[in-house]
Amino acid sequence: MGRYPQARSALLPMLHLLQSVQGQVTAEGIELCAELLGLTAAEVSGVATFYTMYKRRPMGTHHVGVCTNTLCAVMGGDAIYERLSERLGIGNDETTEDGAVTLERIECNAACDHAPVLTVNWEFMDSQTPQSAVELVEKLRAGETVTATRGATITSWREAERVVAGFEDGRVDEGPAAAGPSLAGLEIARQRGWTAPAFDEGSDAAAAEAEQVGEESPQQAAAESDSGRAATETAAAESPAGTRGGGSPQGEDEIASGPSPDDSTGETATTGETADEGGSSDD
Ligand code: FES
Repeated sequence: MGRYPQARSALLPMLHLLQSVQGQVTAEGIELCAELLGLTAAEVSGVATFYTMYKRRPMGTHHVGVCTNTLCAVMGGDAIYERLSERLGIGNDETTEDGAVTLERIECNAACDHAPVLTVNWEFMDSQTPQSAVELVEKLRAGETVTATRGATITSWREAERVVAGFEDGRVDEGPAAAGPSLAGLEIARQRGWTAPAFDEGSDAAAAEAEQVGEESPQQAAAESDSGRAATETAAAESPAGTRGGGSPQGEDEIASGPSPDDSTGETATTGETADEGGSSDD
């Protein structure tokens, strides 16, 4: 809790820590979080039931997630899920009788370049097949050491939850940060000598940078000019009869208080236009 300026910000990691101890988010755990963070049980429960990483039922030793979102599904994710479900004898969000594996369909894990992917206790198993997935869960059930395709040693779901809660396990550097298909575009760019486009001062990126340092970008200046013009035109449209002069370039204060009698851009201009119209009538 001391890591956060406001105690309630500790709720998400605290729920993960709770799962690392109890294997799920229990009613008792919800009450405890509420008491420690000065929240109501309903507020904590609302968070715990909103995010799918929080589990309200007892979890197995290992959580196996099968991505069945669009890309993984068409690349074989659906077939993997079906094969695992059949092999383990369980459906979505269920746990094997021996308590070893909980199976879940999961949404896109932003690892589409390695589709179809599984996760085991939130570690990636990239580019899987139905057969490799079955071999994987058999190893997990047998208690064999399994290494994620990106290098991390698979522990238990509870141990992984403790890491997600913010407690280091000393193994953060296991495996590469990025590899394979994730770097394919970079490699092609290097081979072909492609580089990023030159920085354009009129670009959105330049505007964002200017905003960060508190400068007014050309886009902002233009936007403000547009806003001022729009306000002027709106005031003109809403003002009483003979208001075509309301489109004159006045400031917003002037628009709010109305034109002064001797303001040649206000009533005078309006009168002039009216006179012109009258004049044409005379013609
Ligand atoms: S669709 Fe599976 S990781 Fe994106």
